[in-house]
Amino acid sequence: MSNVIIEVNQLTKKFKSTLAVRQADFKIYKGEIFGLIGQNGAGKSTLLKMIGGLVYPSTGKIHLFNSEMNANHPYYERMGLLIENAGLYPQYSAYDNLKFVAMSYGLKDHLKHINELLELVGLSRTNKTKVKNYSMGMKQRLGIAIALMGSPDVLILDEPINGLDPQGISDIRNLILDLNSKGITIIISSHILEELSKVATKYAIIHKGEIIEIHSKEELLLKCEDRIEVEVSDVKMATPILEEHLNIGNYKVMNDHTVCIYDSHIENYRIVNALVENGISVHSIMKHKQSLEQYFLERTESVVTAHG
Ligand SMILES: Nc1ncnc2c1ncn2[C@@H]1O[C@H](COP(=O)(O)OP(=O)(O)OP(=O)(O)O)[C@@H](O)[C@H]1O
Ligand SMILES: [Mg+2]
Repeated sequence: MSNVIIEVNQLTKKFKSTLAVRQADFKIYKGEIFGLIGQNGAGKSTLLKMIGGLVYPSTGKIHLFNSEMNANHPYYERMGLLIENAGLYPQYSAYDNLKFVAMSYGLKDHLKHINELLELVGLSRTNKTKVKNYSMGMKQRLGIAIALMGSPDVLILDEPINGLDPQGISDIRNLILDLNSKGITIIISSHILEELSKVATKYAIIHKGEIIEIHSKEELLLKCEDRIEVEVSDVKMATPILEEHLNIGNYKVMNDHTVCIYDSHIENYRIVNALVENGISVHSIMKHKQSLEQYFLERTESVVTAHG
């Protein structure tokens, strides 16, 4: 059996003249925490709404649990959504909000789980405060509790840490990791890569409606690791010299002329000397140290330039 839980093919959404999402293609595997990162207006919410069945795609396909989606598909019931406005009833308590949701979903059996859910998201079950008097963090927690109401296999969280203080961010992060460890596949969006990096196992960068990169956690960390990038006349001849003369084992050949060395302690001049002494021309050598945020900004800015 395939472990692909969600697959989107050429998924596009156009609002009049705005191309909000264009030709998105990716797979989400069971057990992943799939992070969607993009600036304001990049298309995150639109993409998540299409996957969650709240917005119809203009073109393209979505497969959920190996079946193609269409209207009123029962598979939507296996998804919990927290997207933009969580749809809370401000005049009522958290308990009553969950009760209404259970009733309106026809989940009468779930009423007995309300207290468990409140506890799980860290809201007091005895708290009678009306939701209109809740802090942002409490509303986000309640939104997640509502998304969890139908015991979903997939949880879609659109910017769940927006507006939270550091303690709230840390609590929501722990909750996400906890839910994931219980087997729930999670899709989470954010405009802060650094924050996503603390939970996500996969990263998709969306920019101006386009998915421009998808990386595993390992790939992303490797990209941001301290490195020395050396451009040479012939990379195939250069790597044995790095290994034999400088004892460098941790490197990656990027193309015919570029090698990245992941050992930033070694001085640049030693690398240049060793290569030149062995007949290799060095065109450039540069130390790179990048934060995840710099990486994200560089990618999105460079794409702006590339598109003019
Ligand atoms: N219902 C709509 N009608 C018209 N345009 C829309 C609609 N929803 C979204 N858009 C446009 O589609 C683009 C993508 O919007 P979307 O809300 O998906 O971005 P986002 O990445 O979620 O942004 P944010 O970080 O601000 O939440 C924007 O240009 C937005 O103005
Ligand atoms: Mg959004």
